Amino acid sequence: MGFLIFVAAMIAKKTFNIEAIREDFPILHTSVNGRPLVYFDNGATSQKPKQVIEAIDNYYESENSNVHRGVHHLSQLATNKYEDARRTIQQYINAEHSEEIIFTKGTTDGLNMLAFSIGQTLEVGDEIIITEMEHHSNIVPWQMLCERSGCKLRVAPINSKGELKLDAFCSLLSDRTKVVSVTHISNTLGTINPIEEIIEASHRYGAVVIIDGAQSIQHMKIDVQTLDCDFYLFSGHKVFGPTGIGIVYGKKKIMEVLTPYQGGGDMIETVSFEKTTYNVLPYRFEAGTPNIAGAIALSRAIEYLNTLPLDEIEKYEKELQEYAQNELCKIDDVRIIGKASNKTSVVSFIVDGIHPFDIGTLLDKQGIAVRTGHHCTQPLMKIYGIPGTIRISLAFYNTKEEVDILINALKRSLQMLR
Ligand code: ALA
Repeated sequence: MGFLIFVAAMIAKKTFNIEAIREDFPILHTSVNGRPLVYFDNGATSQKPKQVIEAIDNYYESENSNVHRGVHHLSQLATNKYEDARRTIQQYINAEHSEEIIFTKGTTDGLNMLAFSIGQTLEVGDEIIITEMEHHSNIVPWQMLCERSGCKLRVAPINSKGELKLDAFCSLLSDRTKVVSVTHISNTLGTINPIEEIIEASHRYGAVVIIDGAQSIQHMKIDVQTLDCDFYLFSGHKVFGPTGIGIVYGKKKIMEVLTPYQGGGDMIETVSFEKTTYNVLPYRFEAGTPNIAGAIALSRAIEYLNTLPLDEIEKYEKELQEYAQNELCKIDDVRIIGKASNKTSVVSFIVDGIHPFDIGTLLDKQGIAVRTGHHCTQPLMKIYGIPGTIRISLAFYNTKEEVDILINALKRSLQMLR
């Protein structure tokens, strides 16, 4: 019987049944403005399968207690579930040790944590390299660090297609480079950065490499040991889990000598008025009561992903993005922003003479959710000389039929706006 269940699970894992997947996401069956919802704002946040929603309900109905603090049954139950969640995430990204997984509020929180903690080790004149396509959350924390420490921020350029100029990036590397922090996939352009080359080149100069995985973990399988990145960060809510929870993966040998980001309960070993000593990893980076339900629900989202054929999904999402991009190109005056040859899941565009906000509003009236504006990448918008874009960001539950609905709705909107 056990073997039959195993075989059934393997068969289920290999089949990409989009209708069955869509059944798992209750919100996909709602209506907006009298039309069936077409949700194309997955880059902002993903929708949640019922398994994740149930995990949150179940936690508060029958498991809620604080972690690492009580001998009583519920506290131990919550602690076990919270630590199981850490191990689920460790296995998913193939981290060597579970204590290399730190729970945060999200990618922004993680980047601020690293800018603070790594920042404590930097000196005047040390350099931090980012790229022109970074989200504000991978720019501002480093700028704040540079202001208080005298470090220098260097920005690697992109070409007109929205691809990183790898040679120019490499020419910025020097013995002064201490940190390289780059997005894996651009939230605005969909560009997939060559992080393997970036990591290898940066390590030749002894720099610590941070990968912002907020837009990649949901689209491809990540193996942090194969990548050999020093840090990899992501947000729970973009990978089908809840908001308010995220992950910093950090190599143990680097993390255990960094100064903790925040002080408080759980992150200490001993406290006296004269001196405090810090706890071991991962707790030294998790001050205060964590988002326990969030961690458990995130691990449920990861378990859900584990039942899906991820290779097939990666291919499907890429094809869907290419289809959307090609169909958009057929419409007069549409200009695609970001034409990298290696991209996925995101199509940003503008229509000459029409403000992105007006198009977004008319699409919403037709039940279609897209994001409009600068997408928290104002410097990138400046490079393209535009105020913002209309962004379609896809997930594996989106379909070709939904892209067709968008194209027809866009054509109708443009007729009204012209
Ligand atoms: N960073 C998120 C986005 O790209 C919010 O929309």
